[in-house]
Amino acid sequence: MLYILHTYGCQMNVRDSEAVCAMLDASGHRLAPSENEADLIVVNSCSVRGKAEDKALGKLGLLCATKRERPGRVIGLMGCMAQRLGSGIFDKVPGLDFSVGTRRCGAIPRLVARVLAGETNICEISDPADTPDVPDAHTEAGFSAFITILLGCNRRCAYCIVPDVRGPEFSRPAREVVAEIAALARHGVREVTLLGQSVMNYGRTNEVWDASAPASPGGFTEPFARLLEAVAAVPGILRIRFTSGHPSGCTDQLVRAMRDLPQVCHHLHLPVQSGSDRILSLMRRGYTRADYLGAVGRLRDAMPDFALTTDVIVGFPGETEADFEETRSLMGAAAFDNAFIFKYSPRPGTPAADWDDDVSEEEKMRRNQVLLADQDVRGLAANQALVGSVQQVLVEGPSLRNAARWSGRSPGNKIVVFDPRPELTAGTLADVRISRAAPQTLYGDLVP
Ligand code: 5AD
Ligand code: SF4
Repeated sequence: MLYILHTYGCQMNVRDSEAVCAMLDASGHRLAPSENEADLIVVNSCSVRGKAEDKALGKLGLLCATKRERPGRVIGLMGCMAQRLGSGIFDKVPGLDFSVGTRRCGAIPRLVARVLAGETNICEISDPADTPDVPDAHTEAGFSAFITILLGCNRRCAYCIVPDVRGPEFSRPAREVVAEIAALARHGVREVTLLGQSVMNYGRTNEVWDASAPASPGGFTEPFARLLEAVAAVPGILRIRFTSGHPSGCTDQLVRAMRDLPQVCHHLHLPVQSGSDRILSLMRRGYTRADYLGAVGRLRDAMPDFALTTDVIVGFPGETEADFEETRSLMGAAAFDNAFIFKYSPRPGTPAADWDDDVSEEEKMRRNQVLLADQDVRGLAANQALVGSVQQVLVEGPSLRNAARWSGRSPGNKIVVFDPRPELTAGTLADVRISRAAPQTLYGDLVP
């Protein structure tokens, strides 16, 4: 069948979708040139905010309506919303053929076969704590790949649905992760992004290193730092990124691994959520404003070129104007390169859902706008500070806006645009001297 996937949510979903594409290809299906031509459509959904679920539900409704003209079409749902709603989804979306939970996406080719054999309303949701059936398949495209190393989450942040839909933490064995990355590198992958909800918790809740594994050459004893070192030793891997971070993971060993392993990019996505100690405590984030800024200080001291990005929630229950101003000032103090600002959205079953969602929609919107405007100024200043510097970019090829120019990303994950040279190929590292900065982009010239 010709298939297409629609992916909402985070990089973990992007990675799962990629694996599902690879499995569907292996089962004889083919990617459709466009949705219109697709006979099999799978929506990979996110539950993190109400709006994310509304989008996926809207899309599913439209897709299922097309079955009137195209009765043979197969429509499926996967991801966090599938996990959260269980078989209840079939009442909300008549015409849906299958729904598969977060740790069961490896079952999709089999489910498609069952639908083709006449079954419908198939619900393949397991307890999220079950052993995962998440394939390590990858599509053979590009030189950058996501690798999930830590499934689930053991934190219980008061606002967050993720522990319910992705289950408790499970760290994949280090040997398996390194083998997967070595195979990708042999197929031309040059950059890997290691994924986990709290990725630095890797190996803290289950053993990941065999007793027979050789000792770390750099003397790393913490499982995540040790994994970074092992991935850096894989031939062909030029760059390593990882996301998301938590201040408790910013240990001396982690900072040392980032500083001393040349493949590890000096960039961290470290969601702060709020700058008010009172709100951080209500959110159950497990750190204070001072802890957060302390971690940032250690990272910056070790790496003068360190780039920092974050997530912030505005309008958490009980957030006052004074709390909000604390967030504003923290964002200045942390000097973020980029920030994603979200309006609080109550999620059913989370502790905060029982509390009064007492900040009005207008006020959430205003706080959101204020932080975005601050960040625009700050982001531009951070980029302007790079004018004159030489940035090492991983070359991606012709730029999206203007195919005559090429683009790549800096270690700090900024898009860098430059004029190509005939001998330049995608997937290699090149040095670019920055001559101009825009809020989201750097411009420059290749250094011979
Ligand atoms: N409401 C709004 N934003 C949320 N996030 C997580 N849960 C919620 C919620 N209930 C945000 C956090 C997280 C990002 C992925 O989504 O900022 O870091
Ligand atoms: Fe969305 Fe969170 Fe699920 Fe990612 S893990 S898809 S952000 S709910």
